[in-house]
Amino acid sequence: MPNFARTFRKSPWRRDPSPTSLGDRLVRFRDPLHAHETLAPFPAYVIPPVPTSEPAATRTGLSEPRFADVSGRRVVMIETNVGDSLYATGEVAGPLLRNATRIRGHNTDCYGYNSRSRTLYQSHPWVLGVHAGGSAFGVILETTYAFEIDLRAGIVLACDGPSPGVVVIERDRPEEVLGVLAELTGTMPMPPLWALGYQQCRWSYEPDEQVRQIAREFRTRRIPCDVIWMDIDYMRGFRCFTFDPEKFPNPAKLSDDLHAQGFRGVWMIDPGIKVDADYSVYSLGRDSDHFIKARDGGEYQGSVWPGPCAFPDFTKSRTRAWWGDLYKDFIAHGIDGVWNDMNEPAIFDGPGKSMRDDARHDADAELGGPDAHARYHNIYGMQMVRATREGITRASPENRPFVLTRSNFLGGHRYAATWTGDNTSNWEHLRLSIPMALNLGLSGQPFVGPDIGGFDGNADATLFARWMGIGALLPFARGHSIKTSVAHEPWSFGEECEGVCRLALRRRYRLMAYLYTLFREASRTGLPIVRPVFFADPRDPSLRTIDHAFLLGRDVLVVADVNPPGVRAAPAGKPGGVLAAWREFDVVDACAELPKLYIRPGAIVPIGPDVQHTGEILAAGKGTTSAERTLLVAPDETGAARGVCYDDAGDGFGYQRGEYAVTEYVFEAGKVTSRVIEGSIKLPVEPGVVTMVL
Ligand code: NOJ
Repeated sequence: MPNFARTFRKSPWRRDPSPTSLGDRLVRFRDPLHAHETLAPFPAYVIPPVPTSEPAATRTGLSEPRFADVSGRRVVMIETNVGDSLYATGEVAGPLLRNATRIRGHNTDCYGYNSRSRTLYQSHPWVLGVHAGGSAFGVILETTYAFEIDLRAGIVLACDGPSPGVVVIERDRPEEVLGVLAELTGTMPMPPLWALGYQQCRWSYEPDEQVRQIAREFRTRRIPCDVIWMDIDYMRGFRCFTFDPEKFPNPAKLSDDLHAQGFRGVWMIDPGIKVDADYSVYSLGRDSDHFIKARDGGEYQGSVWPGPCAFPDFTKSRTRAWWGDLYKDFIAHGIDGVWNDMNEPAIFDGPGKSMRDDARHDADAELGGPDAHARYHNIYGMQMVRATREGITRASPENRPFVLTRSNFLGGHRYAATWTGDNTSNWEHLRLSIPMALNLGLSGQPFVGPDIGGFDGNADATLFARWMGIGALLPFARGHSIKTSVAHEPWSFGEECEGVCRLALRRRYRLMAYLYTLFREASRTGLPIVRPVFFADPRDPSLRTIDHAFLLGRDVLVVADVNPPGVRAAPAGKPGGVLAAWREFDVVDACAELPKLYIRPGAIVPIGPDVQHTGEILAAGKGTTSAERTLLVAPDETGAARGVCYDDAGDGFGYQRGEYAVTEYVFEAGKVTSRVIEGSIKLPVEPGVVTMVL
């Protein structure tokens, strides 16, 4: 990748003489050489922003984008100021602070990635910046083509396609910038409560009896868990939507058995469809013209797990509808959620382990019309999970869908949660878990987490326990590992590690009411569930670069020790500044291996009961409120505190019709009072509230 920033300065550059206002401090800039060209559709947007008559004002002192030719490409540069901190840029492996980094946005199957990897599975052409004074800005590069974000000297952006629009958002605080991003790209719909529980995966639990065995083990050992995952080996010869007749002869019975123990099952579906005339998904897809074409007009084929495969063209609504309908019979086996993997798309014998750029999509006009794969590569996974989500919603209209995806694009949080792909069982990757989740959250994707314990290689007791402690406090909490690794279940590394894992997961379940309230906030405002500690005070430079700690919502600080035993390197301590006053607490027995938790003075955090799975919370059939509730109260210097808790049925869509309640708790003069401040339902059961003042 050429050093655009350096060459840029020497190039003759131009500004957009008349940038377009899209709203208050929301401005689109165009390359003056290409300003007459019509902008291509940008599917990150839930509703494309329209020009307004407001003046195209910038207020936070950000320089206007400048456009120039660098190494034969049009490049845009935005100069930053001393003290500006840059974040987000999507799925990135490395420190939270993105200044001095560069990445390429080109969705890639990057098994074995590390902090030097330039491309990962997802791409989000988006940068969040925080000025020294705490005001903030965001930059969107409106392209679906591969792109570069170079932050080594200001912000330098380039893409492989036609000159895109560059949208700049300016606001007084980073939260407000994320709010505008959410207005443009939508928010995550509420997931079912069970998807917030702990999830256990392996490539693969097989045959079905092993799945039952793993589920039993969780209950016998009293380790909380909600979901067991089925990786590719349940399929018949890796044919999607089929079941191996010997290993998984009766998937509906397996689902029933899992449900009877309070578990859900999530099953994998890949995009690669085995070329096999006797396999109906392939033959129907071929006969109805659903597959991507090669440049010569024939079917595009490439090898994945089952050998040669064809790939559905998810850029057309007709194919998305067909694909979505395939889930009807599939989930009728009692399947609760779907895992879309390998959707960059990964192709073992393709260039860069993917599809050739000149493959042909017959895309709908909504996305930009028929064009080459180069244009649609980065949104392929996003359109796949769009089809999946819509399909399972049609098939099961009473339930909230749950989809997990590996590949995605800015705005794709509307369709699926995500995990950080094939990480490695080592301390570097444990450390990366936190900033990766934070930067994805700052890129609009709140429902995210790593493979706990690490996917590739073998964890050991210390690493696994430490990882469980951290992973249990991230939005998506799933343990997963590769076929060749040693067993990676919470009990696989001896009693001590098992004990730490049990405590870590009990903590997550006790914090479930708080966590669910944060999911609801994310689904309304786009604010991430886990946030960098500088959100507590965006003006404090000492909080800008912290990778080992994060905020769970506004009120809980998590401080992790991400160093191997014996190494207590700085800065593995409690952050300072306003956070110095936060008070330590716990909701389970003290354990030095777990991250430390602190509560914000002035906050009230709702704590739920100790349960083995979220079904126990809902057991009385009265939604998330039916359980007992403890209020953890941390009075501020005036002796007051306030908190809210969100409750609904935990599944279904009643909440969209007002069937929910937001309860406000206020602590004053030594007493808590509560009242429902939002929602049309009366709480079905007033939880037995116990107050604990810290
Ligand atoms: C690649 C995924 O990243 C991994 O999580 C999965 O186990 C394998 N594919 C096999 O399906």
